[in-house]
Amino acid sequence: MDALKKAYYRIFQAVFNIGARCLNWRRPNMVSGPGCVNTIPSLLSEAGVKKALVVTDPVLAKILLPGILKVLDDAGVPYAVFSEVEPNPSVTTVEAICKMYKDEGCGGFVALGGGSAMDAAKGAGAMIACPRKTPNKMAGLLKVGKNIPPFIAIPTTAGTGSETTIAAIITDKATHHKYAIMDLHLIPHYAVLDPELTYGLPPHITSTTGMDALTHAVEAFLCWTYNTKESIRLAEEAVVGIFKYLEAAYADGKDPVAREQMLIASHKAGFAFTRAGVGNVHAIAHTLGGLYNTPHGLANAVILPIVLEDYGPAVYEKLAHLADLVGITGSSVEEKAKAFISEIRAMNQRMNIPTGFDNILEKDIDQMITWALKEANPIYPVPVVYTRERCRKVIRRIIDEC
Ligand SMILES: NC(=O)c1ccc[n+]([C@@H]2O[C@H](COP(=O)([O-])OP(=O)(O)OC[C@H]3O[C@@H](n4cnc5c(N)ncnc54)[C@H](O)[C@@H]3O)[C@@H](O)[C@H]2O)c1
Ligand SMILES: [Fe+2]
Repeated sequence: MDALKKAYYRIFQAVFNIGARCLNWRRPNMVSGPGCVNTIPSLLSEAGVKKALVVTDPVLAKILLPGILKVLDDAGVPYAVFSEVEPNPSVTTVEAICKMYKDEGCGGFVALGGGSAMDAAKGAGAMIACPRKTPNKMAGLLKVGKNIPPFIAIPTTAGTGSETTIAAIITDKATHHKYAIMDLHLIPHYAVLDPELTYGLPPHITSTTGMDALTHAVEAFLCWTYNTKESIRLAEEAVVGIFKYLEAAYADGKDPVAREQMLIASHKAGFAFTRAGVGNVHAIAHTLGGLYNTPHGLANAVILPIVLEDYGPAVYEKLAHLADLVGITGSSVEEKAKAFISEIRAMNQRMNIPTGFDNILEKDIDQMITWALKEANPIYPVPVVYTRERCRKVIRRIIDEC
């Protein structure tokens, strides 16, 4: 039975890979560099937006929003503000944003924040595009199918790469199911990468969101199909950038070079995974976000080395290649691959990221396996297709490694 399922998944992925080459993988128009948030009014005007809905979270509403609103005020741009997005944003929040957008007569979005604010706004954009579909109905691949309103994404973490991806990750708080809406129409129209916005990001969020970006790059690089020359190159460059700059940004949040390079690396990793897919690390991490509100980057940081070790020889060659790129040596492919995983563990340790989670409840494990396998298969081109038992073994290791 498992062999049949695996064969079906691989056939699905091979066929999708051919279809995917005909899709319009557009990229957002990007502006970058210190102070580039000042271009937002001209981007809104270029997109024909007369009134914008600015979407953010309560923390950023205090520290970064005033600066963005001043830019809009100085340019005389009308706007409304929704500032109540929570981490692991809910369907209810997405619906509330959609309602405010309509009530206020807005014509486009300015999403300021990490993945949570950007995804909540993307989810609302999908609801505007498809008024008859609930977010739950749009879960999965290519279920939106219509243009969302003009969308400017301003990432404040480095990070999710949501400013360039097809995904909006939403949680149904009634069932605790965290799921992805994935559609090319969700790719934002503009990405504004201003490193100054990330100078105040606390070290523990810098580290975990940076490890999320590393997970995007590594999982995209390991996928067995979907990759293109461009997605491979961007995944490789992202891995190199994150190995070089993440710990510098963690040590000194105001290091302008490290902050700028991390934003660029996370953007590249975002493009790589939106084209090539993520994998079992993300599929399991999302279950922790939905059930226990575990921050997404933290979940990935912990799970990444455990899943890579579990994959074993299936990924040695590719991991050895990444090891070469970041200057990790070894006398064989296997040795280099293992050293690469050890270095991820060492980075985690140096940045005070735990090795496991002790809050996973026994009663939830079966549900976690069901959700993780449903998310990963058949869409993610994972290097190793998990059976229920192998997934259970990995979840046990996440608990045992505390
Ligand atoms: N759409 C995608 O492609 C994609 C990819 C990966 C993850 N995600 C999703 O994104 C969400 C996680 O996003 P995230 O990791 O960016 O975290 P987040 O948006 O949840 O933010 C985490 C915390 O950091 C704070 N914060 C953000 N920027 C800050 C700044 N510059 N200074 C000070 N504090 C700041 C926020 O207020 C919040 O409290 C998850 O739901 C995850 O599943 C989406
Ligand atoms: Fe992620």
